[in-house]
Amino acid sequence: MKSILVTGGTGFIGSHTVLELLANNYQVVVMDNLRNSKIESLKRVEKLSNMHVDFHKIDLLDKPALSGLFNKYKFDGVIHFAGLKAVGESVEKPLLYYTNNITGTLNLCEVMQENQVKNLVFSSSATVYGNPDQSPLTENESLSAVNPYGQTKLTIEFILKDLQHADSDWNISLLRYFNPVGAHKSGDIGEDPHGIPNNLMPFITQVAVGKLKELSVFGNDYPTPDGTGIRDYIHVVDVAIGHIKALEKLREKPGLVTYNLGTGKGSSVLDMIQAFENANSVKIPYKFAPRRPGDAAICYADVSKAERELNWKAKYSLQEMCRDAWNWQTKNPTGFD
Ligand code: WQD
Repeated sequence: MKSILVTGGTGFIGSHTVLELLANNYQVVVMDNLRNSKIESLKRVEKLSNMHVDFHKIDLLDKPALSGLFNKYKFDGVIHFAGLKAVGESVEKPLLYYTNNITGTLNLCEVMQENQVKNLVFSSSATVYGNPDQSPLTENESLSAVNPYGQTKLTIEFILKDLQHADSDWNISLLRYFNPVGAHKSGDIGEDPHGIPNNLMPFITQVAVGKLKELSVFGNDYPTPDGTGIRDYIHVVDVAIGHIKALEKLREKPGLVTYNLGTGKGSSVLDMIQAFENANSVKIPYKFAPRRPGDAAICYADVSKAERELNWKAKYSLQEMCRDAWNWQTKNPTGFD
């Protein structure tokens, strides 16, 4: 399996995965509608890898353009990142999320099927575990959605399960990311959220660089040791490497397989602030604020299945995640602009 199409390949996890694919001698083609990312990220990836990557500005809702892409190249497999992922926005604009994420994926699968391309790695999310009442979470936990974004991920997982059940020529890996953070050690690519960041780490780095005044800690009355929410933060490069391992797994024709990509360790919001301050010798001013609706108290992964079946284990520490996130932010105070 050599030629890989990466949808959403100019995004945060997509760009880091493209870099790892190139380092593993894959031929990569990237498509993205550049709605939530910038082509500059791919230019940086080309510079870092000293390799060219064909890019096509295509929206998954443009099925004829998608078909044209599959007529131009003979892909062996697809890694599918493209999709909208802001939880809050999905609550305000559910139709946008269902159309973009689900119809887009249906178009992709139909065109793949028409072209006999049946190896797929799908970017899923721990959000399909809903509001878990205990952690660590294995891949067999009950699944539910607590917002339209999570519902799109869950629905796509069911679509792919039904597709593979109907046609056993498909080999599909569902990767459930926990909380990807950090950046490539060069600091040349990283997380570049639009507007005010929803997620903790980019908010912390923007406070640290002076773009934002202070961090609001959403709730300090959770049933956790320090009262703040606990999550499984994982370095984005570890997540990217997980995709290489998932592609290799598909060579064994496993049918449909599902893996948690996390570290198996939980860290609270205050742990993250402390780790960031220690790693970078900066102060993060913060205040306690009310809980954010829909937030779980504790959510972290049981990663034993991915370790066993993918021969993959997260390597980077919280310190390295914080150091690399800060390196990216200081080298790129306004992101890819
Ligand atoms: C982490 C912790 C917050 C911001 C979300 C999506 C999930 C995935 C990852 C796409 C929580 C606290 C946050 C802030 C805070 N995205 N926090 N102040 O909510 O675990 O997951 O992003 O796949 O689908 O749901 O990540 O970074 O938003 O929050 O206190 O300004 O930080 O309450 O405890 P989350 P997060």
